[in-house]
Amino acid sequence: MRTQVGIIGAGPAGLMLSHLLHLQGIESIIIESRSREEIEGTIRAGVLEQGTVDLLNATGVGERMMREGHVHEGIELQFNGNRHRIDFAELTGGKQIMVYPQHEVIKDLVAARLKANRTIFFNVCDVKLVNIESTQPKIEYTNELGESQVIECDFIVGCDGFHGPSRQSIPKSKRVEKQQIYPFGWLGIIAETPQVNPELIYAHHERGFALLSTRTPSIQRHYLQVDPKDDIANWSDDRIWSELHARVDMEGWTLPQGPIIQKNIVSMRSFVCETMQYGRLYLAGDAAHIVPPTGAKGLNLAVADVQVLSQGIREFYEQGNQNILQKYSQTCLKRIWRAQRFSWWMTTILHTNQNHSPFEYGIQLTELDNVTSSRNAAANLAENYVGLPFELPLYKHELSQK
Ligand code: FAD
Ligand code: DHB
Repeated sequence: MRTQVGIIGAGPAGLMLSHLLHLQGIESIIIESRSREEIEGTIRAGVLEQGTVDLLNATGVGERMMREGHVHEGIELQFNGNRHRIDFAELTGGKQIMVYPQHEVIKDLVAARLKANRTIFFNVCDVKLVNIESTQPKIEYTNELGESQVIECDFIVGCDGFHGPSRQSIPKSKRVEKQQIYPFGWLGIIAETPQVNPELIYAHHERGFALLSTRTPSIQRHYLQVDPKDDIANWSDDRIWSELHARVDMEGWTLPQGPIIQKNIVSMRSFVCETMQYGRLYLAGDAAHIVPPTGAKGLNLAVADVQVLSQGIREFYEQGNQNILQKYSQTCLKRIWRAQRFSWWMTTILHTNQNHSPFEYGIQLTELDNVTSSRNAAANLAENYVGLPFELPLYKHELSQK
């Protein structure tokens, strides 16, 4: 098989890239190690930045999101038994966020790709990246029938998440990587209860952080800070509810409770591979960087990466130059480091760290006091949460809604 761009991974990064390339008349093939049902059923992110929402709308894949998603104009920070609202719309000149689950974005992008008669090869294995230093790189893999396949292409884009093979194909000696691991994990639940609050609540508590989010008026998404090495089998539904109550209930207000239909634990890290390009291999999304979820940035960063990359690839084919491609890492890293700082900061001010001294605990509470009492500090949180502008303006082809 031959194509212009071989994409590894059908997460938000890979699917959005193929969609943007298609709108610009550029061919791509996506290979994915899981099944369509799995990628469309995996519960992860919930918060989309204003820029992500705008891009999905501008490229014709935002219709269901606008119908079924929920626009939020702020969040609440809870600590010391009180809630404080951060008003995004007022602090950022009208910007908002959208609560619309990642797997629904995935469904919309898969549907757009299939409607355009472009396939996605699911259930592949043994993926190998070959000749990435040459101008004719190849992807070798085994398809779902057990047959060996080769995709010859001009570019390979590794959108295969943190554990995928793409990043590892760059020689270790050439990779610049920076990482921090946190002693925190998030236990996430999906529960059948009425909506808790019109906006998300990020709660600091000495027993640990808790986050109350939502999916639909009758389905809620909540998270609890736990030990990252803890086993979900240790967490009965009763124990989860009693811990949530202990961390978020306030005088005169109790968290609505109901059946838990899904639960799991994820660990948290900050990671940046600054080498986002090597030869004809480009990395995008979690393949290149991970943020702790407290800032709700991972999916949004993946979309921002491919917004830059798709323009670089278009420029290559249309104008025969690599001006944008040569600066791909540098352009994306500016935003990635801003998101890293914000996600690290949100994580640090909200989670309970057993290793902290009483002094550090005092500083943590003062950070929360500062951000809820200083307009400038609140505006900084709001500006980062709703998302910074894209590094490159939307290209006209991205707006054509083909
Ligand atoms: P992924 O979604 O990981 O996709 C990679 C794809 O590659 C997968 O489908 C995988 O199966 C496939 N793959 C892997 N290996 C191979 C291989 N060898 N061959 C072929 N395919 C392969 N982000 C936000 O912006 N907002 C939020 O509110 C938010 N909340 C979050 C909450 C939680 C609990 C978690 C865990 C994450 C959250 N995130 C959030 C982060 C977000 O989910 C990720 O950043 C996002 O999924 C990254 O997209 P991606 O396409 O880069 O990678
Ligand atoms: C959700 C996830 C996040 O990481 C976050 O910061 C806020 C909300 C969610 O899944 O709804």
